[in-house]
Amino acid sequence: VVDIRTFYKDTGMFTYDPGYTSTASCDSKITFIDGENSELRYRGYDIADLAGKHSFLDVSYLLMRGQLPTEEASKNFDLEIRHRSFLNEGIIRLFDALPDGAHPMATMGAATMALAAFYKDHLHLEDEEQFKMMRRRILAKMPTIAAMAYRNSIGTPLIYPDVDKYFTENFLYMLRAYPGGKMKYLGNGKSQEIRQVEVDALDAIFTLHADHEQNASTTTVRNVGSTEAHPYVAIASGISALWGSAHGGANEKVMDQLRMIGDVKNVPSYIAKAKDKNDPFRLMGFGHRVYKNRDPRAEALKGLQDKLREELHLDSKLLDIAAAVEEAALSDDYFKERGLYPNIDFYSGVILTALRIPIAMFTPIFVIGRTPGWLAQWSELKHDKTAKIARPRQLYTGK
Ligand code: ACO
Repeated sequence: VVDIRTFYKDTGMFTYDPGYTSTASCDSKITFIDGENSELRYRGYDIADLAGKHSFLDVSYLLMRGQLPTEEASKNFDLEIRHRSFLNEGIIRLFDALPDGAHPMATMGAATMALAAFYKDHLHLEDEEQFKMMRRRILAKMPTIAAMAYRNSIGTPLIYPDVDKYFTENFLYMLRAYPGGKMKYLGNGKSQEIRQVEVDALDAIFTLHADHEQNASTTTVRNVGSTEAHPYVAIASGISALWGSAHGGANEKVMDQLRMIGDVKNVPSYIAKAKDKNDPFRLMGFGHRVYKNRDPRAEALKGLQDKLREELHLDSKLLDIAAAVEEAALSDDYFKERGLYPNIDFYSGVILTALRIPIAMFTPIFVIGRTPGWLAQWSELKHDKTAKIARPRQLYTGK
């Protein structure tokens, strides 16, 4: 027994909890998860009653403001977001400094961090209007940052936002349009037209990613926020944490893995690889810290996948491989004993591919979806008078 008291308020005891598997870092009124019963609620609403039934912007409003907007509030919020979607030209010049082939997540982190150089909102956060304005600004600019980061990575001229378009349609437009904003190119007869079914599918995907209580990236946003750092910096830190393949980066890896498996007949050997403790290989898109049962977001995405199979011409070979992986894993004792079920990242890739979203944009899509959650959690922290700087203790084992 070691007395670790260094301060009169010390209890002389601390918990040792690597990965914080049983430590609550805060109390929160935003998102509720019941991992055993596969339940996920935003501000009391079951996500099945939100995704595809309310717009992503209304859900963002719900997360940040605590209630769904009235019709008028919804309209005003939408307009405000459209008008704040432009980036300062200084940020756009920053893209020029980054090389072709830069991963869009790297560019997004840098551009979001750089917003702190342009806006001084953090100096006026006691003013509730400035506070809300800052949140709207970040939410509005994220699709523009994401789309431009991608176009910059492939060396294509950037497309500016179109205020006549709703958030999700605008994002698809900025990602897809031909240089100059054309959606059709008569020269080769090709069309980049955006269908409503595509907008609706992506909007539902954003909603399903919108918040997930104290996951790694949200905890990062709160930790950075607790030091009184600039809000843009806190969100940029969330982007960094989300990029990792154990977290939001998994959706990109799932698609790589499904392609690597290549054929239904190869599934058993990959399942065996995932079970082999001498092999670091993990089945991407399986397992979750909180869900030891089905992930309700994955269930909702699977439903969406089934619904859109024909309409979006989903890649049936990939769907067959995914179905075979799921079936093999769910009937295997290794996965059953450990409560390893498909998570949200397992299903998003096939739909995103059908929406012609490049793989490098899968994690940026997660960022866009998660932004209102980060902002809501960051706001809750800022309004919490009892909040303290995040500063865990350690168990020293050195000399
Ligand atoms: N494939 C094979 N085995 C797995 C997998 C997997 N995907 N996930 C966990 N396991 C095994 C572990 O090897 C471990 O086995 P052991 O008890 O014999 O040592 C056991 O299941 C528990 O795994 P932990 O890593 O301790 O669980 P933890 O809660 O720390 O990790 C995580 C959760 C990171 C999500 C993990 O399941 C994983 O790496 N999954 C693959 C990556 C992924 O899909 N990430 C996305 C998560 S969802 C999201 O962030 C949006």
